[in-house]
Amino acid sequence: MKLWGGRFTKPTNELVDAYTSSIGFDQKLAEYDIQGSLAHVAMLGKCGIIEQHEAETIADGLKQVLNKIQEGEATLTQADEDIHMNVERLLIEHIGPVGGKLHTGRSRNDQVALDMRLYLREAIVDIVGLLGAVQTALTEQAKQHLDTILPGYTHLQRAQPVLFGHHLMAYAYMLQRDVERLQDSWKRVNKMPLGAGALAGTTFPIDRHFVAGQLHFDGITENSLDSVSDRDFVVEFLSAASLISMHLSRLSEELVQWSSAEFNFIELDDAFSTGSSMMPQKKNPDVAELVRGKSGRVFGHLMGMLTTLKGLPLAYNKDMQEDKEGMFDTVETLKGALGLFAPMIETMSVKQDNMYRAVRNDFSNATDLADYLVAKGMAFRESHAVVGQTVLYSIEQGKYLLDLGLEELQQFSSLIEEDIYEALAPETVVAARNIPGGTAKARVQDQVDNIEALLETNRKWTEEQAAKLEG
Ligand code: ARG
Repeated sequence: MKLWGGRFTKPTNELVDAYTSSIGFDQKLAEYDIQGSLAHVAMLGKCGIIEQHEAETIADGLKQVLNKIQEGEATLTQADEDIHMNVERLLIEHIGPVGGKLHTGRSRNDQVALDMRLYLREAIVDIVGLLGAVQTALTEQAKQHLDTILPGYTHLQRAQPVLFGHHLMAYAYMLQRDVERLQDSWKRVNKMPLGAGALAGTTFPIDRHFVAGQLHFDGITENSLDSVSDRDFVVEFLSAASLISMHLSRLSEELVQWSSAEFNFIELDDAFSTGSSMMPQKKNPDVAELVRGKSGRVFGHLMGMLTTLKGLPLAYNKDMQEDKEGMFDTVETLKGALGLFAPMIETMSVKQDNMYRAVRNDFSNATDLADYLVAKGMAFRESHAVVGQTVLYSIEQGKYLLDLGLEELQQFSSLIEEDIYEALAPETVVAARNIPGGTAKARVQDQVDNIEALLETNRKWTEEQAAKLEG
Protein backbone atom coordinates (compact mmCIF):
# COMPACT_ATOMS: atom_id res chain seq x y z
CA MET A 1 0.00 0.00 0.00
CA LYS A 2 1.24 3.50 -0.92
CA LEU A 3 1.93 6.00 1.84
CA TRP A 4 -0.86 8.03 0.19
CA GLY A 5 -3.05 5.00 -0.64
CA GLY A 6 -5.97 5.78 1.70
CA ARG A 7 -8.38 7.21 -0.85
CA PHE A 8 -7.58 4.65 -3.57
CA THR A 9 -9.37 1.41 -4.23
CA LYS A 10 -6.83 -0.15 -6.61
CA PRO A 11 -3.08 -0.43 -6.83
CA THR A 12 -1.30 1.88 -9.26
CA ASN A 13 -0.66 0.47 -12.72
CA GLU A 14 2.98 -0.62 -12.91
CA LEU A 15 3.58 1.52 -15.98
CA VAL A 16 2.40 4.55 -14.02
CA ASP A 17 4.82 3.72 -11.21
CA ALA A 18 7.66 3.37 -13.68
CA TYR A 19 6.74 6.58 -15.51
CA THR A 20 6.08 8.84 -12.54
CA SER A 21 8.68 7.70 -10.07
CA SER A 22 11.84 9.72 -9.62
CA ILE A 23 13.74 7.39 -7.31
CA GLY A 24 16.01 6.36 -10.20
CA PHE A 25 17.63 9.77 -10.08
CA ASP A 26 16.56 11.59 -6.92
CA GLN A 27 18.32 9.05 -4.68
CA LYS A 28 21.24 11.44 -5.19
CA LEU A 29 19.37 13.67 -2.76
CA ALA A 30 19.24 11.07 0.04
CA GLU A 31 21.84 12.74 2.21
CA TYR A 32 20.24 16.19 1.81
CA ASP A 33 16.75 14.82 2.31
CA ILE A 34 17.74 13.28 5.62
CA GLN A 35 19.72 16.36 6.65
CA GLY A 36 16.53 18.37 6.10
CA SER A 37 14.40 15.84 7.95
CA LEU A 38 16.75 15.91 10.94
CA ALA A 39 16.34 19.69 11.21
CA HIS A 40 12.57 19.41 10.74
CA VAL A 41 12.13 16.76 13.41
CA ALA A 42 14.36 18.63 15.88
CA MET A 43 12.05 21.61 15.36
CA LEU A 44 8.90 19.48 15.82
CA GLY A 45 10.31 18.28 19.16
CA LYS A 46 11.45 21.74 20.29
CA CYS A 47 8.07 23.30 19.47
CA GLY A 48 6.18 20.54 21.29
CA ILE A 49 4.42 19.45 18.11
CA ILE A 50 5.63 15.91 18.83
CA GLU A 51 7.15 14.57 22.08
CA GLN A 52 10.86 15.20 22.59
CA HIS A 53 11.57 11.48 22.97
CA GLU A 54 9.71 10.78 19.72
CA ALA A 55 11.84 13.38 17.96
CA GLU A 56 14.95 11.65 19.27
CA THR A 57 13.79 8.22 18.17
CA ILE A 58 13.01 9.56 14.70
CA ALA A 59 16.37 11.32 14.47
CA ASP A 60 18.23 8.13 15.42
CA GLY A 61 16.18 6.19 12.91
CA LEU A 62 16.91 8.70 10.15
CA LYS A 63 20.64 8.41 10.76
CA GLN A 64 20.42 4.65 10.51
CA VAL A 65 18.41 4.88 7.31
CA LEU A 66 21.05 7.18 5.82
CA ASN A 67 23.74 4.71 6.79
CA LYS A 68 21.86 1.89 5.15
CA ILE A 69 21.34 3.87 1.95
CA GLN A 70 24.99 4.89 1.83
CA GLU A 71 26.11 1.30 2.41
CA GLY A 72 23.83 0.22 -0.41
CA GLU A 73 21.83 -1.97 1.98
CA ALA A 74 18.50 -0.19 1.66
CA THR A 75 15.96 -1.28 -0.92
CA LEU A 76 14.62 1.75 -2.76
CA THR A 77 11.49 1.04 -4.79
CA GLN A 78 9.64 2.66 -7.68
CA ALA A 79 6.39 1.94 -5.88
CA ASP A 80 7.54 4.42 -3.22
CA GLU A 81 7.99 6.95 -6.02
CA ASP A 82 10.74 9.22 -4.81
CA ILE A 83 13.51 9.59 -2.25
CA HIS A 84 11.19 11.32 0.22
CA MET A 85 8.69 8.47 0.46
CA ASN A 86 11.37 5.81 0.29
CA VAL A 87 13.12 7.34 3.28
CA GLU A 88 9.86 7.64 5.19
CA ARG A 89 8.98 4.01 4.41
CA LEU A 90 12.42 2.81 5.52
CA LEU A 91 12.15 4.89 8.68
CA ILE A 92 8.82 3.38 9.62
CA GLU A 93 10.12 -0.12 8.89
CA HIS A 94 13.02 0.66 11.15
CA ILE A 95 11.45 2.36 14.19
CA GLY A 96 7.77 1.54 13.84
CA PRO A 97 4.67 3.77 13.59
CA VAL A 98 6.30 6.69 15.45
CA GLY A 99 8.23 7.25 12.19
CA GLY A 100 4.90 8.31 10.73
CA LYS A 101 5.12 11.54 12.78
CA LEU A 102 8.11 12.86 10.82
CA HIS A 103 6.00 14.31 8.03
CA THR A 104 3.88 16.45 10.40
CA GLY A 105 3.54 20.01 9.10
CA ARG A 106 5.47 19.21 5.93
CA SER A 107 4.74 18.28 2.34
CA ARG A 108 6.96 16.70 -0.27
CA ASN A 109 6.52 19.96 -2.13
CA ASP A 110 8.46 22.05 0.36
CA GLN A 111 10.68 19.07 1.16
CA VAL A 112 11.91 18.71 -2.41
CA ALA A 113 12.42 22.46 -2.73
CA LEU A 114 14.61 22.25 0.37
CA ASP A 115 16.59 19.26 -0.91
CA MET A 116 17.31 21.00 -4.21
CA ARG A 117 18.64 24.06 -2.40
CA LEU A 118 20.76 21.97 -0.03
CA TYR A 119 22.26 20.09 -2.97
CA LEU A 120 22.85 23.15 -5.09
CA ARG A 121 24.50 25.37 -2.50
CA GLU A 122 27.09 22.66 -1.86
CA ALA A 123 27.64 22.20 -5.60
CA ILE A 124 28.13 25.96 -6.00
CA VAL A 125 30.85 26.02 -3.33
CA ASP A 126 32.60 23.07 -5.00
CA ILE A 127 32.40 24.64 -8.46
CA VAL A 128 33.69 28.02 -7.27
CA GLY A 129 36.65 26.14 -5.77
CA LEU A 130 37.28 24.27 -9.03
CA LEU A 131 37.04 27.49 -11.06
CA GLY A 132 39.68 28.94 -8.74
CA ALA A 133 42.04 26.08 -9.57
CA VAL A 134 41.64 26.74 -13.30
CA GLN A 135 42.14 30.48 -12.79
CA THR A 136 45.28 29.71 -10.81
CA ALA A 137 46.63 27.44 -13.55
CA LEU A 138 45.97 30.16 -16.16
CA THR A 139 47.62 32.79 -13.99
CA GLU A 140 50.69 30.63 -13.30
CA GLN A 141 51.15 29.98 -17.03
CA ALA A 142 50.61 33.67 -17.73
CA LYS A 143 53.40 34.55 -15.29
CA GLN A 144 55.76 32.27 -17.23
CA HIS A 145 54.85 34.06 -20.45
CA LEU A 146 55.10 37.77 -19.81
CA ASP A 147 57.73 37.97 -22.56
CA THR A 148 56.23 35.45 -24.97
CA ILE A 149 54.79 37.18 -28.02
CA LEU A 150 52.25 35.61 -30.36
CA PRO A 151 49.88 37.02 -32.94
CA GLY A 152 46.59 38.22 -31.53
CA TYR A 153 43.76 37.46 -33.96
CA THR A 154 40.54 39.00 -35.17
CA HIS A 155 38.46 37.06 -37.69
CA LEU A 156 41.10 34.37 -37.04
CA GLN A 157 43.46 36.53 -39.12
CA ARG A 158 46.70 37.70 -37.54
CA ALA A 159 45.92 41.18 -36.24
CA GLN A 160 48.33 42.61 -33.67
CA PRO A 161 50.97 40.95 -31.51
CA VAL A 162 50.07 40.29 -27.87
CA LEU A 163 51.76 38.62 -24.93
CA PHE A 164 50.74 35.02 -24.40
CA GLY A 165 50.29 35.92 -20.74
CA HIS A 166 47.79 38.59 -21.79
CA HIS A 167 45.82 36.08 -23.84
CA LEU A 168 45.64 33.60 -20.94
CA MET A 169 44.60 36.31 -18.50
CA ALA A 170 41.59 37.08 -20.69
CA TYR A 171 40.24 33.65 -19.72
CA ALA A 172 41.12 34.15 -16.06
CA TYR A 173 38.88 37.24 -16.08
CA MET A 174 36.03 35.46 -17.84
CA LEU A 175 36.13 32.77 -15.17
CA GLN A 176 36.25 35.47 -12.49
CA ARG A 177 32.90 36.81 -13.68
CA ASP A 178 31.61 33.23 -13.64
CA VAL A 179 32.70 32.92 -10.02
CA GLU A 180 30.98 36.19 -9.15
CA ARG A 181 27.76 35.10 -10.86
CA LEU A 182 27.71 31.90 -8.80
CA GLN A 183 28.48 33.79 -5.60
CA ASP A 184 25.65 36.17 -6.33
CA SER A 185 23.21 33.34 -7.04
CA TRP A 186 24.16 31.79 -3.71
CA LYS A 187 22.24 34.57 -1.91
CA ARG A 188 19.02 33.43 -3.54
CA VAL A 189 19.70 29.70 -3.25
CA ASN A 190 20.52 29.95 0.41
CA LYS A 191 16.96 30.61 1.63
CA MET A 192 15.00 27.98 3.54
CA PRO A 193 11.62 26.99 1.99
CA LEU A 194 10.36 24.43 4.52
CA GLY A 195 7.13 25.48 6.19
CA ALA A 196 5.46 26.26 2.88
CA GLY A 197 3.77 22.88 3.23
CA ALA A 198 1.97 21.75 0.10
CA LEU A 199 1.42 25.38 -0.92
CA ALA A 200 -0.37 27.47 1.72
CA GLY A 201 1.74 26.99 4.84
CA THR A 202 0.82 24.79 7.78
CA THR A 203 -1.55 24.89 10.73
CA PHE A 204 1.11 23.65 13.15
CA PRO A 205 3.03 26.23 15.21
CA ILE A 206 6.34 25.49 13.51
CA ASP A 207 9.52 27.56 13.83
CA ARG A 208 10.90 28.14 10.34
CA HIS A 209 13.79 30.27 11.57
CA PHE A 210 14.95 27.47 13.84
CA VAL A 211 15.04 25.06 10.89
CA ALA A 212 16.89 27.67 8.80
CA GLY A 213 19.46 28.06 11.58
CA GLN A 214 19.94 24.32 11.94
CA LEU A 215 20.65 24.03 8.22
CA HIS A 216 22.84 27.18 8.05
CA PHE A 217 20.57 29.09 5.71
CA ASP A 218 20.83 32.88 5.59
CA GLY A 219 17.07 33.24 6.01
CA ILE A 220 13.68 31.85 5.03
CA THR A 221 11.68 32.22 1.82
CA GLU A 222 8.94 34.84 2.08
CA ASN A 223 5.91 33.38 0.30
CA SER A 224 4.74 29.78 0.58
CA LEU A 225 3.32 29.56 -2.96
CA ASP A 226 6.54 30.93 -4.40
CA SER A 227 8.61 28.60 -2.20
CA VAL A 228 7.15 25.43 -3.66
CA SER A 229 6.53 26.55 -7.23
CA ASP A 230 9.61 28.30 -8.51
CA ARG A 231 12.90 26.81 -9.58
CA ASP A 232 14.41 30.07 -10.71
CA PHE A 233 17.45 29.27 -8.57
CA VAL A 234 17.99 26.17 -10.72
CA VAL A 235 17.61 28.24 -13.89
CA GLU A 236 20.10 30.76 -12.53
CA PHE A 237 22.57 28.02 -11.82
CA LEU A 238 22.11 26.46 -15.27
CA SER A 239 22.56 29.87 -16.81
CA ALA A 240 25.80 30.53 -14.90
CA ALA A 241 26.87 26.99 -15.81
CA SER A 242 26.12 27.68 -19.48
CA LEU A 243 28.39 30.72 -19.44
CA ILE A 244 31.13 28.68 -17.76
CA SER A 245 30.71 25.98 -20.41
CA MET A 246 30.80 28.59 -23.17
CA HIS A 247 34.04 30.07 -21.80
CA LEU A 248 35.65 26.66 -21.39
CA SER A 249 34.50 25.72 -24.87
CA ARG A 250 36.21 28.75 -26.42
CA LEU A 251 39.42 28.03 -24.55
CA SER A 252 39.12 24.40 -25.65
CA GLU A 253 38.79 25.51 -29.25
CA GLU A 254 42.00 27.52 -28.93
CA LEU A 255 43.85 24.61 -27.35
CA VAL A 256 42.70 22.40 -30.23
CA GLN A 257 43.86 24.95 -32.80
CA TRP A 258 47.13 25.74 -31.07
CA SER A 259 48.08 22.08 -30.80
CA SER A 260 47.48 21.45 -34.53
CA ALA A 261 50.47 21.24 -36.90
CA GLU A 262 49.06 24.33 -38.62
CA PHE A 263 49.49 26.52 -35.52
CA ASN A 264 51.98 24.43 -33.55
CA PHE A 265 51.91 26.89 -30.63
CA ILE A 266 51.49 24.47 -27.72
CA GLU A 267 51.78 20.83 -26.88
CA LEU A 268 49.43 19.25 -24.37
CA ASP A 269 51.05 16.83 -21.95
CA ASP A 270 50.86 13.15 -22.93
CA ALA A 271 48.86 12.48 -19.78
CA PHE A 272 46.14 14.81 -21.06
CA SER A 273 46.07 13.63 -24.68
CA THR A 274 44.85 10.49 -26.40
CA GLY A 275 45.87 8.39 -29.39
CA SER A 276 44.20 6.98 -32.47
CA SER A 277 43.35 3.29 -32.81
CA MET A 278 44.46 3.32 -36.45
CA MET A 279 46.94 6.14 -37.00
CA PRO A 280 50.00 5.53 -34.84
CA GLN A 281 51.35 9.07 -35.18
CA LYS A 282 48.26 10.80 -33.76
CA LYS A 283 48.11 12.72 -30.51
CA ASN A 284 44.64 14.14 -30.05
CA PRO A 285 43.35 16.89 -27.73
CA ASP A 286 40.31 14.79 -26.79
CA VAL A 287 39.75 16.42 -23.41
CA ALA A 288 39.49 19.89 -24.92
CA GLU A 289 37.22 18.58 -27.67
CA LEU A 290 34.89 16.89 -25.20
CA VAL A 291 34.71 19.94 -22.99
CA ARG A 292 33.78 21.91 -26.12
CA GLY A 293 31.24 19.25 -27.06
CA LYS A 294 29.66 18.91 -23.64
CA SER A 295 28.71 22.59 -23.60
CA GLY A 296 25.78 21.38 -25.75
CA ARG A 297 24.19 19.33 -23.01
CA VAL A 298 24.57 22.15 -20.46
CA PHE A 299 22.89 24.69 -22.77
CA GLY A 300 20.23 22.05 -23.41
CA HIS A 301 19.52 21.65 -19.70
CA LEU A 302 19.04 25.43 -19.39
CA MET A 303 16.54 25.47 -22.26
CA GLY A 304 14.85 22.36 -20.88
CA MET A 305 14.31 23.86 -17.44
CA LEU A 306 13.01 27.18 -18.78
CA THR A 307 10.62 25.35 -21.06
CA THR A 308 9.38 23.04 -18.31
CA LEU A 309 8.59 25.98 -16.04
CA LYS A 310 7.17 28.45 -18.51
CA GLY A 311 3.52 27.37 -18.60
CA LEU A 312 3.03 26.17 -15.04
CA PRO A 313 0.24 27.66 -12.94
CA LEU A 314 0.99 28.09 -9.23
CA ALA A 315 1.83 26.19 -7.19
CA TYR A 316 3.54 22.77 -7.41
CA ASN A 317 3.04 20.69 -10.53
CA LYS A 318 4.51 17.28 -11.20
CA ASP A 319 6.29 18.76 -14.23
CA MET A 320 8.74 20.19 -11.73
CA GLN A 321 10.17 16.76 -11.02
CA GLU A 322 11.99 17.38 -14.32
CA ASP A 323 14.22 19.87 -12.47
CA LYS A 324 16.65 17.27 -11.22
CA GLU A 325 18.43 15.31 -13.93
CA GLY A 326 19.56 18.39 -15.84
CA MET A 327 20.87 19.98 -12.68
CA PHE A 328 22.72 16.84 -11.56
CA ASP A 329 24.16 16.32 -15.01
CA THR A 330 25.27 19.95 -15.22
CA VAL A 331 27.03 19.77 -11.85
CA GLU A 332 28.83 16.57 -12.86
CA THR A 333 29.70 17.86 -16.33
CA LEU A 334 31.19 21.04 -14.90
CA LYS A 335 33.08 19.26 -12.16
CA GLY A 336 34.55 16.87 -14.72
CA ALA A 337 35.65 19.62 -17.10
CA LEU A 338 37.04 21.97 -14.46
CA GLY A 339 38.84 19.17 -12.65
CA LEU A 340 40.69 18.29 -15.87
CA PHE A 341 41.31 21.80 -17.08
CA ALA A 342 43.50 22.92 -14.19
CA PRO A 343 46.18 20.21 -14.64
CA MET A 344 45.85 20.28 -18.44
CA ILE A 345 46.69 24.02 -18.52
CA GLU A 346 49.35 23.62 -15.85
CA THR A 347 51.21 20.92 -17.80
CA MET A 348 50.91 22.21 -21.37
CA SER A 349 54.18 23.28 -22.97
CA VAL A 350 54.37 26.49 -24.93
CA LYS A 351 56.38 26.77 -28.16
CA GLN A 352 57.49 30.37 -27.86
CA ASP A 353 59.77 30.23 -30.91
CA ASN A 354 56.90 29.20 -33.16
CA MET A 355 54.71 31.92 -31.71
CA TYR A 356 57.43 34.50 -32.31
CA ARG A 357 57.99 33.30 -35.88
CA ALA A 358 54.27 33.70 -36.57
CA VAL A 359 54.49 37.30 -35.42
CA ARG A 360 57.72 38.07 -37.29
CA ASN A 361 56.50 36.56 -40.55
CA ASP A 362 53.42 38.65 -40.76
CA PHE A 363 52.02 42.14 -41.07
CA SER A 364 50.68 42.36 -37.53
CA ASN A 365 52.89 45.46 -37.03
CA ALA A 366 51.10 47.34 -39.83
CA THR A 367 48.99 49.37 -37.37
CA ASP A 368 52.21 50.46 -35.74
CA LEU A 369 53.57 51.80 -39.02
CA ALA A 370 50.36 53.80 -39.37
CA ASP A 371 50.63 55.05 -35.77
CA TYR A 372 54.30 55.97 -36.45
CA LEU A 373 53.26 58.21 -39.34
CA VAL A 374 50.51 59.76 -37.22
CA ALA A 375 53.09 60.56 -34.53
CA LYS A 376 55.02 62.39 -37.29
CA GLY A 377 52.04 64.53 -38.21
CA MET A 378 50.06 62.53 -40.82
CA ALA A 379 46.29 62.09 -40.38
CA PHE A 380 45.39 58.54 -39.40
CA ARG A 381 43.10 57.97 -42.38
CA GLU A 382 45.93 58.98 -44.74
CA SER A 383 48.49 56.85 -42.92
CA HIS A 384 46.08 53.88 -43.10
CA ALA A 385 46.06 54.21 -46.90
CA VAL A 386 49.84 54.69 -47.10
CA VAL A 387 50.46 51.56 -45.03
CA GLY A 388 47.92 49.65 -47.12
CA GLN A 389 50.01 50.42 -50.20
CA THR A 390 53.22 49.51 -48.37
CA VAL A 391 51.74 46.14 -47.39
CA LEU A 392 50.60 45.51 -50.95
CA TYR A 393 54.10 46.31 -52.26
CA SER A 394 55.65 44.00 -49.60
CA ILE A 395 53.39 41.13 -50.59
CA GLU A 396 54.38 41.60 -54.21
CA GLN A 397 58.05 41.54 -53.20
CA GLY A 398 57.53 38.49 -50.97
CA LYS A 399 58.73 40.44 -47.94
CA TYR A 400 57.43 41.65 -44.58
CA LEU A 401 57.62 45.28 -43.42
CA LEU A 402 60.78 44.71 -41.39
CA ASP A 403 62.49 43.20 -44.46
CA LEU A 404 62.09 46.37 -46.56
CA GLY A 405 65.08 48.68 -46.95
CA LEU A 406 64.77 52.29 -45.81
CA GLU A 407 64.60 53.58 -49.38
CA GLU A 408 61.89 51.12 -50.25
CA LEU A 409 59.88 52.35 -47.28
CA GLN A 410 60.48 55.97 -48.08
CA GLN A 411 58.79 55.53 -51.49
CA PHE A 412 55.55 55.52 -49.51
CA SER A 413 56.31 58.39 -47.16
CA SER A 414 59.27 60.64 -46.64
CA LEU A 415 58.33 60.79 -42.95
CA ILE A 416 59.80 57.27 -42.49
CA GLU A 417 63.28 57.28 -40.96
CA GLU A 418 65.85 54.81 -39.62
CA ASP A 419 64.01 54.51 -36.26
CA ILE A 420 61.18 52.66 -38.04
CA TYR A 421 62.90 49.28 -37.57
CA GLU A 422 62.93 49.70 -33.82
CA ALA A 423 59.30 50.93 -33.90
CA LEU A 424 58.08 47.89 -35.85
CA ALA A 425 59.92 45.22 -33.84
CA PRO A 426 57.40 42.88 -32.14
CA GLU A 427 58.79 43.74 -28.69
CA THR A 428 58.27 47.48 -29.30
CA VAL A 429 54.83 46.94 -30.74
CA VAL A 430 53.72 45.03 -27.65
CA ALA A 431 55.39 47.41 -25.19
CA ALA A 432 53.69 50.37 -26.87
CA ARG A 433 50.22 49.18 -25.76
CA ASN A 434 50.91 50.59 -22.35
CA ILE A 435 47.47 51.58 -21.13
CA PRO A 436 45.40 49.86 -18.41
CA GLY A 437 44.16 46.55 -19.83
CA GLY A 438 46.75 46.68 -22.65
CA THR A 439 49.26 44.05 -23.64
CA ALA A 440 52.45 45.79 -22.44
CA LYS A 441 54.27 43.60 -19.93
CA ALA A 442 53.72 45.92 -16.95
CA ARG A 443 50.00 46.08 -17.76
CA VAL A 444 49.69 42.31 -17.94
CA GLN A 445 51.59 42.12 -14.66
CA ASP A 446 48.92 44.46 -13.21
CA GLN A 447 46.25 42.05 -14.44
CA VAL A 448 48.05 39.18 -12.78
CA ASP A 449 48.40 41.07 -9.49
CA ASN A 450 44.75 42.05 -9.56
CA ILE A 451 43.51 38.54 -10.28
CA GLU A 452 45.71 37.11 -7.55
CA ALA A 453 44.00 39.40 -5.04
CA LEU A 454 40.60 38.31 -6.38
CA LEU A 455 41.61 34.65 -6.16
CA GLU A 456 42.46 35.17 -2.51
CA THR A 457 39.00 36.70 -1.93
CA ASN A 458 37.36 33.78 -3.76
CA ARG A 459 39.34 31.31 -1.68
CA LYS A 460 38.16 32.96 1.53
CA TRP A 461 34.56 32.95 0.34
CA THR A 462 34.76 29.26 -0.50
CA GLU A 463 36.32 28.43 2.85
CA GLU A 464 33.73 30.45 4.75
CA GLN A 465 30.78 28.88 2.97
CA ALA A 466 32.24 25.37 3.24
CA ALA A 467 32.79 25.89 6.98
CA LYS A 468 29.17 27.08 7.32
CA LEU A 469 27.89 24.00 5.53
CA GLU A 470 29.99 21.74 7.76
CA GLY A 471 28.14 23.40 10.64
N1 ARG B 1 9.34 13.62 -6.60
C1 ARG B 1 8.68 14.89 -6.55
C2 ARG B 1 9.48 15.93 -7.28
O1 ARG B 1 10.62 15.72 -7.47
C3 ARG B 1 8.54 15.33 -5.12
C4 ARG B 1 7.38 16.22 -4.89
C5 ARG B 1 6.14 15.48 -5.18
N2 ARG B 1 4.96 16.14 -4.71
C6 ARG B 1 3.77 15.75 -5.08
N3 ARG B 1 2.77 16.40 -4.59
N4 ARG B 1 3.57 14.76 -5.91
O2 ARG B 1 8.99 16.95 -7.69
